[in-house]
Amino acid sequence: MKKSVIYPGSFDPLTNGHINIIKRAANSFDEVVVAVAINSSKSSIMNIDQRVKVIKKIFRNNKKIKVDKFKGLLVRFAKKKKIKTILRGMRTVQDFEYELQMATSNNKLDSTIETIFMVADANYAHISSSLIKDIIKLGGSAKEFIPKAVEIELKKILNKDK
Ligand code: PNS
Repeated sequence: MKKSVIYPGSFDPLTNGHINIIKRAANSFDEVVVAVAINSSKSSIMNIDQRVKVIKKIFRNNKKIKVDKFKGLLVRFAKKKKIKTILRGMRTVQDFEYELQMATSNNKLDSTIETIFMVADANYAHISSSLIKDIIKLGGSAKEFIPKAVEIELKKILNKDK
């Protein structure tokens, strides 16, 4: 049977840390579904289509990695996809509390779903999308934290807003 995992997130924007987790997950699973959340409550820098498009572009040559978007409960999306495992990256102890709450809530919502964690590579443990978003919004360069394709997409978005 095919071993699949869902890697959900806002990915606003996708960082080098996310890429590291996705690639490592693809070494352990037959299929990694990167699930981009349609989250209207967050003030996003990239809209859902821009996020999905750029992630698809980055992984276009890796057949194991699929990109999809979802709205509403993650466990419902997992059920629809017939995938029982959710993967989250864990960077610091600060992540732990939030991740614990999320994993427990998801398991209460659907006890057939398990969340597993991958510890962030030390080179990326300090990177977060919100930090990057701040840097970009304040006119700084986030170059070293994001892939080239994301940088290009962000430049286009920011230039349009000018
Ligand atoms: O990258 P993020 O913002 O930390 O990802 C959070 C995400 C999108 C995985 C989480 O907010 C989520 O699963 N949202 C979907 C709504 C849901 O299922 N909520 C209940 C689980 S706590």
